[in-house]
Amino acid sequence: MKRMEGKVALITGGARGQGREHARELAAEGADIILTDICEQIPGVKYPMSTKADLDETVEIVRGLGRRCLGYVVDARDGARMRQVIDEAVAELGQLDTVVINHGIAIPHEPDDPDSYELWDAVISTNLSGVYRTASVVIPHLKECGGSIIVIGSSSSLVAHYNNPSYTASKHGVIGLVKALAADLSKYWIRVNAVCPTAVSTDMFINEYNLSRFSPNETNPTVESLKFPATALHQLPVPWIEPEAVAKAVLYLASDDGKYVTGISLPVDAGTTTQPPGITAFIGQRIAELS
Ligand SMILES: NC(=O)c1ccc[n+]([C@@H]2O[C@H](COP(=O)([O-])OP(=O)(O)OC[C@H]3O[C@@H](n4cnc5c(N)ncnc54)[C@H](O)[C@@H]3O)[C@@H](O)[C@H]2O)c1
Repeated sequence: MKRMEGKVALITGGARGQGREHARELAAEGADIILTDICEQIPGVKYPMSTKADLDETVEIVRGLGRRCLGYVVDARDGARMRQVIDEAVAELGQLDTVVINHGIAIPHEPDDPDSYELWDAVISTNLSGVYRTASVVIPHLKECGGSIIVIGSSSSLVAHYNNPSYTASKHGVIGLVKALAADLSKYWIRVNAVCPTAVSTDMFINEYNLSRFSPNETNPTVESLKFPATALHQLPVPWIEPEAVAKAVLYLASDDGKYVTGISLPVDAGTTTQPPGITAFIGQRIAELS
């Protein structure tokens, strides 16, 4: 028997990237899928966000796997509209068992950037308040028969990253929220966990803006130029991980494989958050090669 047979899963930020992969993974294991995504640019975000065409493509991928799929354009920050959409989708598909709160934005900035208040508000309202609003809307459905909420945090949930105060604060915040929800909802057999990935090969990380940010001295930085600084973040010698690796962790927490797991933050991070102090093995090796 497939691990998500007979289940219905909601995925926010499901139009593309990791959200699409979670949809593919859970559908391949038998789940019907509800997707939500803003499909619009949020002011301040320096890489192109998703489109309605991306969302439609993910719906088609899920349907191609033989599962039912509903896709909605809705901003996770809009609690009232989220409630309307999710109530409607659950009425149509009959139940809700798994919720992957995956949507998010990253806006790197200096803490003394004159525009930092607006950027802070955009990131916190999306990555933290939008997570809380989504959770509050799905809880009444999950209370009916138990379920699993999985929040996509980040390695920035566990350690700081340079020039990213809003993102780091928002992703640390969701870990507190996950623990609080796990405590309050365990009596209903609702499990709540976070998955904390390192850099993932999606448009949020691999984009023109980040290429220049990580290679400030190059005139035409390429994905190749990003590999060295990105690999230096990790213990395992990889620059980033693929969305499938995160989706496997989500499947573990969504399915009965993780039935006694609640309140945790599961790093899928090539060792970045457990790096010993000092220079990484990768950099050490490079210095040895050059000397
Ligand atoms: N890519 C990385 O390197 C990385 C690393 C660690 C964690 N994450 C986290 O993983 C999650 C998925 O990101 P991704 O890598 O797939 O990036 P992505 O940009 O491809 O996907 C994020 C999706 O969220 C949607 N979204 C953003 N704000 C929204 C809102 N207010 N309402 C509804 N939808 C909204 C976007 O439109 C987009 O489709 C995010 O929470 C992100 O913070 C990403």
